[in-house]
Amino acid sequence: MSQAKKLYIKTYGCQMNVYDSERMAEALGTSGYVTTDTPEDADMILLNTCHIREKAAEKVYSELGRLKVHKVENPEVKIGVAGCVAQAEGAEIMRRQPMVDLVVGPQSYHRLPELEARAGQGQKALDTDFPEEDKFEHLTARPKARRAPAAFLTVQEGCDKFCAFCVVPYTRGVEVSRPVGRIVTEARDLVERGVREITLLGQNVNAYHGVGNDGDDRTLAQLIAALEMVDGLERIRFTTSHPNDMQDDLIAAFGESDKLMPYLHLPVQSGSDKILKRMNRSHTAESYIRVIERIRAVRPDILLSGDFIVGFPEETDADFQATIDLIEQVNYGQAYSFKYSTRPGTPAAERAQVEDAVANARLQQLQALITKQQRALQEAMVGRDVSVLVERKGRLDGQMLGKSQYLHAVHINDSSAGIGDIVKVRITSSSTNSLAAIEN
Ligand code: SAH
Ligand code: SF4
Ligand code: F3S
Repeated sequence: MSQAKKLYIKTYGCQMNVYDSERMAEALGTSGYVTTDTPEDADMILLNTCHIREKAAEKVYSELGRLKVHKVENPEVKIGVAGCVAQAEGAEIMRRQPMVDLVVGPQSYHRLPELEARAGQGQKALDTDFPEEDKFEHLTARPKARRAPAAFLTVQEGCDKFCAFCVVPYTRGVEVSRPVGRIVTEARDLVERGVREITLLGQNVNAYHGVGNDGDDRTLAQLIAALEMVDGLERIRFTTSHPNDMQDDLIAAFGESDKLMPYLHLPVQSGSDKILKRMNRSHTAESYIRVIERIRAVRPDILLSGDFIVGFPEETDADFQATIDLIEQVNYGQAYSFKYSTRPGTPAAERAQVEDAVANARLQQLQALITKQQRALQEAMVGRDVSVLVERKGRLDGQMLGKSQYLHAVHINDSSAGIGDIVKVRITSSSTNSLAAIEN
């Protein structure tokens, strides 16, 4: 019997890349690959990359530099680059780093077995097409292995919004939604394998408009309603949303659904209407706040998360202050903030840049405020009862780790719960990044 070949995948970037890496492993499973956790014993090394900021893209080249030793030790090892850098830079990657055998963009993963075969014959293999066929339909050869209780499921991919700073519309292409039936089938399969919580993924997930079984389009709220019927699926989340696509039925779902968790990641980027306009965000600070108010009216305990960019071209102190004011008004439980990074080919790249020292100072000030809000909201959890989906064992004897409905990391001490259980606990203390609890 021939021995299985080993595949090592390193994943960068967003949750969609995490999902895609699993799909790539499945696709290459049909070519006889099993996954390994170490590059040393791999027959194929794949980097699933991110192009969102300059640092993210540069990481790929430094990692390729480090991987060279494996190729020197064993010239048979195949090295591949997938994901958004692959899409954005294509053949340029092979010019900069000739030991790369294979470059594959996010829409072509179903063609991996064919590309791998070409690379196996010593040819360079490149595929960055946006093919007509649905890549997900071709990625159905799932092993029925048990898996962790929380999983991602991509329901929508690509983006038509073209924010002036962002590469995603170029690397992931136009917005495409998967049909409801396929998503429900995939969710059932996940549940059979031990999954209790699914996070629905899309670059613009709340613009979801996949086709239902009767041929008519469905909204994200209608998709969530269909998934609620899946027995054994206990928790549903979705990310990432755009403020302009928070439709009435989706907001209402936060008040009505037992399975939709009270957590929402709703990026705003800036609190200045001038900057929002230049970012091509097509919402204002006020319209964003109104959306938040409507969600809080139906789900007062919802935990809100956001994304911010500081130092966007032409951002003044007053513009930045407007962002700080917005953060004060919203009170975030969690947020991601970034210094603006110039992305070649995007409209904002041509504009006058904010001085680096100024942007750094603004980022620090913003992050300090977010940390303060996050800590205060976490402290306020002490003494409260939450439900936790247990995901794994902790370091201490009898300790189990999991996530609250608000996505807090919770350590349960002296726990009798098993992995995959959802348990009621009381929060006993709060530290920087997690909460401690005891079972009720
Ligand atoms: N809607 C998307 C956003 C993807 S990018 C999603 O599904 O997640 C994630 C975040 O990265 C954005 O919200 C933005 O805050 C940040 N970002 C995007 N382009 C950037 C750039 N050029 N410089 C700095 N941050 C950026
Ligand atoms: Fe990028 Fe804007 Fe689309 Fe989000 S909505 S992926 S930030 S272009
Ligand atoms: Fe990065 Fe592509 Fe995701 S650029 S954030 S991996 S969509």
